[in-house]
Amino acid sequence: MLDLVVLVSGGGTNLQAIIDRIADGTLAGVRIAGVVASRPGTFAEERARRAGIPCRIVRRGDYGDLSAYDRAMIQALSAWPAGLVVLAGFLSLLGPEFVARYANRIINIHPSLLPAFCGPGLYGIRPHEAALEYGVRVTGATVHFVDEHYDHGPIILQKAVPVRQDDTPQSLQLRVMQEAEQVILPQAIALYAAGRIKTNGRKTIIEGDY
Ligand code: GRF
Repeated sequence: MLDLVVLVSGGGTNLQAIIDRIADGTLAGVRIAGVVASRPGTFAEERARRAGIPCRIVRRGDYGDLSAYDRAMIQALSAWPAGLVVLAGFLSLLGPEFVARYANRIINIHPSLLPAFCGPGLYGIRPHEAALEYGVRVTGATVHFVDEHYDHGPIILQKAVPVRQDDTPQSLQLRVMQEAEQVILPQAIALYAAGRIKTNGRKTIIEGDY
């Protein structure tokens, strides 16, 4: 059994995709042991409650520095078994202490085809605004391992979606979420659960077809 701890900050659509894939049997042998939200009152927290998943709140603003925040996050997660930590729409930067504690066991979903449209400030709707501003014809989502830099660790999966001439940032975000994020995040978790992802320096190798 692979126990997940899922970190959230907003609407929780990526959390919901994991919950739904576990419920429909696609993600066999996986369970969500707990959820940590970066602020109170998120709909992600409500989704966890409806699914009977315990949820804790740890606010970055409650901690003076990154080290104190890291220790608070490590303390919060210590309540649960965490074979894999999944950042699902999570917006706080995790520091080196947290990343070291869960080395090579933290994955993130980013709403662009890395290395495009990423880094500090480029989260939520902003990668889609940047994609439209640049005029790209395709964009998409990336699942990657987390290191101590924003959106920087070894890439696991990517999925492209077309950018339409009449797209708004909102219509593009919805397509990326529905057709890319909510497909490749559960897929990456399944590959990890099956032990089929090997890291090779800057890159990953996925064993078998996927
Ligand atoms: C998603 O595009 C996610 O990639 C980004 O925020 C959006 C909402 O995520 N970080 P969620 O609904 O909270 O999972």
